[in-house]
Amino acid sequence: MEELIISSGTKEEKYAELYKQIKSVVEDETDIIANMANVVAMIHETFGFWWTGFYRVTNNELLVLGPFQGPLACTRIKKGRGVCGTAWNENHTLIVPDVDQFPGHIACSSLSKSEIVVPIHDTDNNVKAVLDIDSEKLNTFDMIDKLWLEKIVNLL
Ligand code: SME
Repeated sequence: MEELIISSGTKEEKYAELYKQIKSVVEDETDIIANMANVVAMIHETFGFWWTGFYRVTNNELLVLGPFQGPLACTRIKKGRGVCGTAWNENHTLIVPDVDQFPGHIACSSLSKSEIVVPIHDTDNNVKAVLDIDSEKLNTFDMIDKLWLEKIVNLL
């Protein structure tokens, strides 16, 4: 396996290269936890986000913390709660430019300022997990992140 080195280029160019590398890593492995662990590591290392991780749907009402990179995080989130539980409930990607303006945001870290949450679907189109990325800066995430992160989680 080659080392991940994506240091230059525009955000789109970095995502395009990252996507190729993630595809080659996950297509040889069937274990979802192993793949989630490598996906968060590769995204986190490429962009230097504050926190990058998965929460997995464990029953109809609860998300439980999965593989992540970054500081300690809350382990359980109810459906409809916080950004993660809302993205699951509404079944679409949520971009939050300023977490203080999002009613019910769950502050695992006071340093987190903006956030994106991307739902991941099973073959029946039910949400099986969400990818959550937090930034220490306001307004970090846009439609480019949404597009590429949705493509990336589709590989899982
Ligand atoms: N902020 C998230 C909770 C998870 S942590 O950010 C890692 C939310 O409001 O759902």
